[in-house]
Amino acid sequence: MELKISPYARIGEDNIKKLIHCFYEEIRNDTLLRPMYKEKLEEAEQRLYLFMVQYLGGPKHYNGMRGLPRLKIRHQPFAIDEDAKNSWLANMRTALDKSNINADDKEFLWDYFVKTANFMRNK
Ligand code: HEM
Repeated sequence: MELKISPYARIGEDNIKKLIHCFYEEIRNDTLLRPMYKEKLEEAEQRLYLFMVQYLGGPKHYNGMRGLPRLKIRHQPFAIDEDAKNSWLANMRTALDKSNINADDKEFLWDYFVKTANFMRNK
């Protein structure tokens, strides 16, 4: 039997946490996107962090806290056009470039973020 290790186990919780933290540090300085988020970025950071842990095969604390992700519906209140999508991805690219995640996993995560960000577009 082939032993499958989850991306969560491979990348590691600490790397995921740092990546998402770094991403929100970028959002903090993003004049286009910052106004879309609530005053306290910490809560948004915690949600994306728990979501990614779950998506990558780790504990399902996100579902316990927020219910099913339904990401497209949850993003409906925000005007996500091509510019907003590109800014979101640019922030994530910066965070990925600064992280210690190995090259293959960076590529795997980037592909997922690009695909999902395109799906979130609603304008
Ligand atoms: C395409 C550009 C995107 C924009 C402009 C955007 C913007 C936002 C905003 C404004 C929030 C609300 C944060 C708050 O509560 O203050 C949010 C929540 C969230 N976003 Fe995005 N987002 C984008 C793409 C993505 C992508 C690609 C993912 C997944 C990889 C994602 C995952 C999430 C998650 C998990 C939440 C929390 C949902 C919840 O439990 O309420 N977003 N996003």
